[in-house]
Amino acid sequence: MSISYLNGEWQAVEEAKISVLDRGFLFGDGVYEVIPVYKKKPFTLDLHLKRLNDSLKEIKLSNPRTTQEWTDLIMEGIERSGEQNAALYLQITRGADTKRNFVYPEKVVHTVFMMVSAASILERKVIKPYHFITLEDFRWNKGHIKSISLIAAGMIKNEAITQGADDAVLIKNGKVTECSAANIFIVLNGALITPPKSKYLLQGITRDQIIKVAISGGIKVEEREITPEELKQADEMFMTRSTHEAWPVGSLDGKPIGNGEAGVVWQEVDRLFQALKSEADS
Ligand SMILES: Cc1ncc(COP(=O)(O)O)c(C=O)c1O
Repeated sequence: MSISYLNGEWQAVEEAKISVLDRGFLFGDGVYEVIPVYKKKPFTLDLHLKRLNDSLKEIKLSNPRTTQEWTDLIMEGIERSGEQNAALYLQITRGADTKRNFVYPEKVVHTVFMMVSAASILERKVIKPYHFITLEDFRWNKGHIKSISLIAAGMIKNEAITQGADDAVLIKNGKVTECSAANIFIVLNGALITPPKSKYLLQGITRDQIIKVAISGGIKVEEREITPEELKQADEMFMTRSTHEAWPVGSLDGKPIGNGEAGVVWQEVDRLFQALKSEADS
């Protein structure tokens, strides 16, 4: 069952309403998080709450709750949803103003919204490699902020779908950044490579966990720039994202990557990631 919280009220998601003067609605003036929930427990919650705080700081919006208050709210949301495996979405905006005005209001009453929805993808029953294309990364230069202004990401995703793909790997200034809503990894010459953290991409929490488990498993990891040429030569490719964990990519621009199936390095990091989840659960 999907459940939502909006400024103190619990209700079905379809029932939740905000003011048309909400700066989130008018300007996309807000930030969000998506937290995976396994067996009713939020995974890497501390890291998500830290990134939420970092995003709020970047847009000069105060954090309306303490870490303990967020934790209590999140645990209540999971309990109310009755879900075991879920995606927990949290959004904070600068609230409603008296008129439409770019200038931040002096007194902010935040809009705090949360929804918890079943996420069967987290059960990982069928993992079919995705088909990707390459597209220009025309998004803004503050990709490290988890901003709710997502029209550019939406345009990219829909362009990929129009071209018969699942998503796109993005190229900015001749370098690979990430995907519309995921980080990207390639395997080339025996190394697992992902672009370094920068203002051009979201510092994905799954990305960091995958790097951690890969290193612990003796896989050579490189955080460095990837050129479009290297992307074409990749022996394997996968994306990472909270709701998808590490997910294989089988083709790029219509050409198979390796044999088009999930590769051996992906299989190994996925195995290590599942072990990490079990540890967190115990
Ligand atoms: C642009 C972008 N990059 C990367 C990610 C992956 O981040 P995480 O692993 O923290 O979910 C996301 C997640 O939604 C995203 O929107």
